[in-house]
Amino acid sequence: MNNIIWSTGHILKFGNIVDSDNCFIYDSQGNRMVDLESGVWCTCLGHNNKRINKVISDQINKISHTGFCFIHPQIEKTARKVLDINNLQGGKCEFICSGSEAVEYGMRIARILSEKPLALTFADSYMGAYGDVAVKSADKWFIYDRLNCSCNHSGSGCLGDCEEFSRIPFDKIGIFLLEPGSSSGLVRFPDARLIKKISKKVQESGGIVMSNEITTGIGRTGKWFGYQHYNIQPDIVAMGKGIGNGYPVSVTAVSKKIADQLKHKGFHYSQSHQNDPLGAFVAAEVIDIIAEGALCDEAREKGYYLFGKLTEMQEEFPLIREVRGRGLMLAVEFTRDASRIYEALLTAGFIVALRPNTEVLRLDPALTIEKETLDLFLVALRDVLVNLAPNKPDH
Ligand SMILES: Cc1ncc(COP(=O)(O)O)c(C=O)c1O
Repeated sequence: MNNIIWSTGHILKFGNIVDSDNCFIYDSQGNRMVDLESGVWCTCLGHNNKRINKVISDQINKISHTGFCFIHPQIEKTARKVLDINNLQGGKCEFICSGSEAVEYGMRIARILSEKPLALTFADSYMGAYGDVAVKSADKWFIYDRLNCSCNHSGSGCLGDCEEFSRIPFDKIGIFLLEPGSSSGLVRFPDARLIKKISKKVQESGGIVMSNEITTGIGRTGKWFGYQHYNIQPDIVAMGKGIGNGYPVSVTAVSKKIADQLKHKGFHYSQSHQNDPLGAFVAAEVIDIIAEGALCDEAREKGYYLFGKLTEMQEEFPLIREVRGRGLMLAVEFTRDASRIYEALLTAGFIVALRPNTEVLRLDPALTIEKETLDLFLVALRDVLVNLAPNKPDH
């Protein structure tokens, strides 16, 4: 057991994790667990993916890091793929390492170009571990609480038709930073009417729409990106997590218009791991695997299946308050006992995410998960709920 790392997970009580295969991970005693969290929502193509491993080992034997003064031809090739799947042909990309960096990089650009003082985002968004988006200082941000407004009748949040919405100071807002559904880990999807309305207002007045696709991107929600459920075209897109399948690479893509505007602004950004060839090879392979295997469709279909089965379970167990999901990003909200259910699932060998101080369990399995593995989980969850006294259903 490790005592010299600050943030060790409680999973370590099972022993150290030493091996893996798609959605299965193994500890040093050979115990198998089903990882329905994909690490931290990263391994969208499963752990130990052989195609990704091969790309890494081929490239690592050539060159993995060049420094930002040099460029490897793969950077250009991967950037084209990233721009294509975002419909941002003619734009530009920058490869960095983490989701937080990709969001911060995009915000840096947006701030330089924005002629208005404020950026708008929702109160239930998480954007990154540090910087502008973590601090969210009042002189730079307008935070809209889309869940507490007078037109939230259906529970899907603001529709853009209420008094609270009309008080948003759009005359001062030059940036809309959208996080389309992770919702600080609680998996709540903003209403399409709201997103279209805000994006239109911001873009029509010369502002910038940026989508944070760190969690919702790369096929997770059944489309390449979460914003594609909203029929909008962001000017900037930040991608991380799944784009590296567990390897630390992230990317920020900007439209041609933004790239052209930036030319005259003397924008400069540098860090050690910027446009590293190894990360670019991994990202290109991730995109190819998803495209060749039609894995966005797979995510949609498997997500639909899982959502349906969980909803059936909700009818049987009133303890399930709500099931939410889009593609393979799902959450089950309980009326109580989420932490007991989480512990019981862990004991049964299933890793899900427990959102701290909530009754929400989150599921983000790899797009490559087998249907049989989903069924194993559904059986385990049902067993846990049946055995959870005093909520045993009458049979
Ligand atoms: C929606 C969202 N944005 C940004 C981040 C930050 O990404 P990273 O942890 O890779 O820096 C996360 C991480 O969980 C996230 O879920």
